[in-house]
Amino acid sequence: MDLNPDKAFSIEFQPSGLRLILDEPTTLLDAARQAGVMLRADCGGKGICGKCRIQLFSDLVDYPPSLTEESHLDHASIDAGFRLACETIAHKNIKVFIPTDSIIEGQVLQVDGRLRELNIEPSVRRISVSLQPADLKDLRSDLARIKIFLDRDDLSADLNVLRIIPRILRQNQWSADLMVLDQKIIAASAPAKEKTAGLAVDVGSTKVACYLMDLESGKLLAARGTPNPQIAYGEDIMARIAFALQSEQNAKKLQTMLFDAINRTSQTLAREAGIESTQIADVCLVGNTAMHHLFLHLPVDPLAVSPFVPAFNEVLYPKADELGITAMPGCGVYTPPVIAGFVGSDHLAFLLAEGFGEDQRTRLGIDIGTNTEIALQKGVEIVSVSTASGPAFEGAHIRFGMRAAPGAIEHVTLDNNGFAEIQVIGNQEPIGICGSGILDAVAEMRRIGMLNSRGRIVKEFMGVCLDGNGKPYIQLSQGSQPVILSQNDVDQILLAKGAIRAGIDVLMDHLKVHPEEIEEVVIAGAFGTFMLPEHAMRIGMLPELPLDKVHAAGNAAGAGARMMLISKSARARAENLAKQIRYLELTVYPEFPMFYAKGIQS
Ligand code: FES
Repeated sequence: MDLNPDKAFSIEFQPSGLRLILDEPTTLLDAARQAGVMLRADCGGKGICGKCRIQLFSDLVDYPPSLTEESHLDHASIDAGFRLACETIAHKNIKVFIPTDSIIEGQVLQVDGRLRELNIEPSVRRISVSLQPADLKDLRSDLARIKIFLDRDDLSADLNVLRIIPRILRQNQWSADLMVLDQKIIAASAPAKEKTAGLAVDVGSTKVACYLMDLESGKLLAARGTPNPQIAYGEDIMARIAFALQSEQNAKKLQTMLFDAINRTSQTLAREAGIESTQIADVCLVGNTAMHHLFLHLPVDPLAVSPFVPAFNEVLYPKADELGITAMPGCGVYTPPVIAGFVGSDHLAFLLAEGFGEDQRTRLGIDIGTNTEIALQKGVEIVSVSTASGPAFEGAHIRFGMRAAPGAIEHVTLDNNGFAEIQVIGNQEPIGICGSGILDAVAEMRRIGMLNSRGRIVKEFMGVCLDGNGKPYIQLSQGSQPVILSQNDVDQILLAKGAIRAGIDVLMDHLKVHPEEIEEVVIAGAFGTFMLPEHAMRIGMLPELPLDKVHAAGNAAGAGARMMLISKSARARAENLAKQIRYLELTVYPEFPMFYAKGIQS
């Protein structure tokens, strides 16, 4: 049925990025179903279950809550834009965020990463004390008594701790559990022998990976990924920076919504682990430089204009309550250094987790995203670049592109006539194609000659279809709305892979490394896990190398954050590594345009 262009409006669902154009007012639940968004609706849309909770990013005046919504949602949630999808009627352009809890099968939000052996030596330790009671012959203060008991003359205590220690000691026969960070007592409680937990968080632009760790054993208690709700204000970092720059209120909003998502996730993790969020005694937070500045509420202006320098790139250890993170009173948030305007502490955490700087092998580390960070180590030198690869591998700017979620084509094989065999996440009807599927499709088209060396789809090739304007495309699935890949989609992929390859080539040129000298390529992130390295080489995204040299590291930034949470020496190593990494600005590298022009060829 043709849409009436005068009445047409769009609904954009995040974090999947799926969009729907309609010309009739429709409930958001129906729209989600039409768009293929797997939204929970346990009562089938009758307003009974309250499970179809979504968040609106539009003028809320247009969407006053119904009585049903008021019975399911508290005031704070309603003010924050939460509504029920079955009760909300979309009638104009609207952006809708689907929280993790409302998705039937969540987007693939990878939290796994390789964690190497390391000594468990957390920065925060619980120390139990059992003191001699004060009496008229021993008039020392409570803190002096603690220092003598522990034989630690260097100890001091936070003011909030000094306010509660006298009561805790006297109510518990002069015993207490103290949380000690370096030389400071940051929290005190009645002796409980409860677990002391820590929270490591990798704040990505698209997803936030949270890990709850036992600080004493170093064991992982629970882990979970959640979409970064800031995505409602822009899929790419620059859009969010622009939003933050509009007003102080906007910048604060981005910070608050992120910590709300982290708090909700850490509460879920704590419940799974059978503890309270207030047992979290230490937090480590990593992210790209824009995320880092937004979560620390630092000015993002310098990141918006050339030369894109960060406001600050050293370790900061603010208090959790100053930032808005729910944890033990006095808990600190360790934020490692960022490297440059577009190379953040997540890149540092990735390189730490993968042992860069610990040996002198020639290694490449790649984290593919909208900005792809690449490091090349040769001997004691480590040089990093950031390349603007764009969001094509995350499904954006591709007609049927989407993130890795149920319904996404994740793998494609073509027969010699160009007919596709596909693998779909969740084994269901395909509704789109994600990064690994897109990479497969382009590599397969190249293999069978359906794509020529100039990156053009060969119109005469069997299996190639032509649209009404005579433009070629290939059809990857059947049905009423088949998933297709057009010449424009292929162009986007070639631009993305060209930027990545140019970054690699600049690094190899700069450090005088030949491809055959590379001993290992480590690729971080979900895309690195699902992509086939041979396909990345076939389209020229990676240099030709033996396949056994290419390894997927999973969520390596998350693994690095976990290491820094449970090990003081990992923190020290990270801080040294940050000094060792040299940032190279691609745009001023004389040969960059030549490498880029070469890189975008198929
Ligand atoms: S589907 Fe149950 S309340 Fe909306």
